[in-house]
Amino acid sequence: MSERSYDFLMPSVNFFGPGVIEKIGERAKMLGMKKPVIVTDKFLEGLKDGAVQQTLASLDEAGVDYVIYNGVEPNPKVRNIQEVKKLYEESGADSIITVGGGSAHDTGKGAGIILTNGDDITELAGIETLNNPLPPLIAVNTTAGTGSELTRHAVITNEETHLKFVVVSWRNIPLVSFNDPTLMLDVPASLTAATGMDAFVQAIEPYVSVDHNPITDSQCIEAIKLIEGSLREAVANGHNLEARTAMVEAEMLAGMAFNNANLGYVHAMAHQLGGQYDAPHGVCCALLLPYVEQYNLIADPQRFAELAEFMGENTDGLSTRDAAELSIKAMKQMSEDVGIPKSIKEIGAKPEDFRMMAENALKDGNAFSNPRKGTVDDLVKIFQAAYDAE
Ligand SMILES: [Fe+2]
Repeated sequence: MSERSYDFLMPSVNFFGPGVIEKIGERAKMLGMKKPVIVTDKFLEGLKDGAVQQTLASLDEAGVDYVIYNGVEPNPKVRNIQEVKKLYEESGADSIITVGGGSAHDTGKGAGIILTNGDDITELAGIETLNNPLPPLIAVNTTAGTGSELTRHAVITNEETHLKFVVVSWRNIPLVSFNDPTLMLDVPASLTAATGMDAFVQAIEPYVSVDHNPITDSQCIEAIKLIEGSLREAVANGHNLEARTAMVEAEMLAGMAFNNANLGYVHAMAHQLGGQYDAPHGVCCALLLPYVEQYNLIADPQRFAELAEFMGENTDGLSTRDAAELSIKAMKQMSEDVGIPKSIKEIGAKPEDFRMMAENALKDGNAFSNPRKGTVDDLVKIFQAAYDAE
């Protein structure tokens, strides 16, 4: 096959825009869902007129029965997906609806995986390891965001080893996703910033990935421009519907891009921080981003120079190398503007863990598409730079 031969995954059906959540009951019925498990957390379940209550109202109207699992935790654990499986089997459920951000979707995907592909999910870590389809899965998304509502990735934490692992398979892509920005208006500023920075990283990593192609490039470029023009505004005022809508468009584009062009060391290393210190994924990604990309810069200075332009930097008259450096400055500025901490110290990272985390990061499914090929020592130095940051 030539280098230009690749498979391109597209999510099947996505409802997008203010008010689309009203259609979920009808769509669940069309999919033949008789009794979905609603996978969410207590906070979202308790929100009056929030995403869960609107979902339930629409299901009630369509005459679809359901049972609720409200134990979703940040950085979903093997224990969580086992709990969902147990409830699914004991209640006679036939499908899954996840309501929340990446943690809810990954919990639902993880439960779906062990319901049809074998009970030990740690054995299924890796790329295209699933032989059987998951139960029908709808994802109602409330953050912008991991993109998990439309990607083939499920990230689960093994609570015994503190290791995060990824199950990457086309079978993980939800049948239908709902991205209704009105469900995101009350997301707190800190969560908006963290999830928005995740989307930002998910647009940057596929752009410089060794697996990028013209289709994913166009998705990354538009996603970066949208985030540059709306993340600060969404953090400053959650009820800015225009900014929320642009962020949803951006996170969907980034999700489609990295479904195909994959990610890189930011995610491979962020998974180690998240697994070891139970820190929010988006914050881990944002803290590492400038230091990983500074390291990556020599692999493709032209692409980094282009990134600087997409982020609104003036590169007129600059050498490619100088323009590329501006992209790193713009990444730091974005993090600072939305209130991300400066150093991985602030999420509890310890230098004595760097070597072990560097070794594990190089084995992470996201490491292989990184544009520069690093050693354990290289990654230790990147962790150190992100630790020393002031
Ligand atoms: Fe991510």
